[in-house]
Amino acid sequence: MFQGKSFLKEIDFTKDELVYLIDFAIHLKKLKQAKISHQYLAGKNIALLFEKTSTRTRAAFTVAANDLGAQPEFLGQNDVQFGKKESTADTAKVLGAMFDGIQFRGFKQNDVESLAQNAGVPVWNGLTDTWHPTQMLADFMTIKEVFGDYVGKNLVYIGDGRNNMANSLLVTSAILGVNVTIIAPNDLQPELEIQKIAHEKATLTGAVLTITDDTSAVKGADVIYTDVWVSMGEEDKYDERVQKLLPYQVNAALFAKTENENCIFMHCLPAFHDLNTRTMAEIHEKYDLTELEVTDEIFKSVKSVVFQEAENRLHTIKAVMAATLGNLFIPKV
Ligand code: CP
Ligand code: NVA
Repeated sequence: MFQGKSFLKEIDFTKDELVYLIDFAIHLKKLKQAKISHQYLAGKNIALLFEKTSTRTRAAFTVAANDLGAQPEFLGQNDVQFGKKESTADTAKVLGAMFDGIQFRGFKQNDVESLAQNAGVPVWNGLTDTWHPTQMLADFMTIKEVFGDYVGKNLVYIGDGRNNMANSLLVTSAILGVNVTIIAPNDLQPELEIQKIAHEKATLTGAVLTITDDTSAVKGADVIYTDVWVSMGEEDKYDERVQKLLPYQVNAALFAKTENENCIFMHCLPAFHDLNTRTMAEIHEKYDLTELEVTDEIFKSVKSVVFQEAENRLHTIKAVMAATLGNLFIPKV
């Protein structure tokens, strides 16, 4: 059902298809842990085209390709003509003629859509300004691992409600039937167009959607999720965002408001929770803060599943690549 298909945004997939990919990833994780070979993509070549930086997505696509028996090739923004001297369509035709699949991380959603229209091979969205679909599979896989299921759970995303993560969490929750609350200042709440899509999807699953600026809406949360306050490409916005989003920091006081001692903490990473990065050291100098969207205390607490979530990027990205490119014979564990 997935063969030859691209993975560009969540709304291109039904609930059943997303559930299949999450469950397939859980299976692939077991195969990896049991050291059972799963080289469904032997002989294939995979292009990894990056306009923005990445640790998890790049590492996950690289290791997933290797585990599947394929050969990954990293094409960074300083290495290729794309974006400067060559159009998206021309790049797509060239790469599509040589590679069997293409990962793209970049700014515009239109670029990843145009790559897919012109490449003739599956294209996978490794993050754009609008959506982060492979992250969604890892996140809901992690929630399933922790709680046994995601349906009926209450997911609260707090912070910058107008970025790729907020968009993807809102819409994917609606598709999967997960209750989702976005807590953000009024002018950082999801665009109306995104809200409309989410509401349409929620009518099919009964997911309850709430969008508010009131932090007391964390009450009853099973998951508190946050992301950076300044996303890649908007680095000039620290002044405005730090000021606006400090009341939305994930800290012990916010967790207490959930009134749920089993509530977990999630973050797609990277996170600003201590002074151990150059950017955070600069922020410290300017604003006298040592942590931004989440406190170090919460980040390192037993509630935090962020590294399990990061590892699951590998298994879910592997599931997407294998399902869209492979001739699947799935061995039993
Ligand atoms: N979560 C995520 O996409 O991480 P990277 O930016 O490191 O790939
Ligand atoms: N919103 C963040 C997500 C990083 C994985 C960004 O786009 O920079």
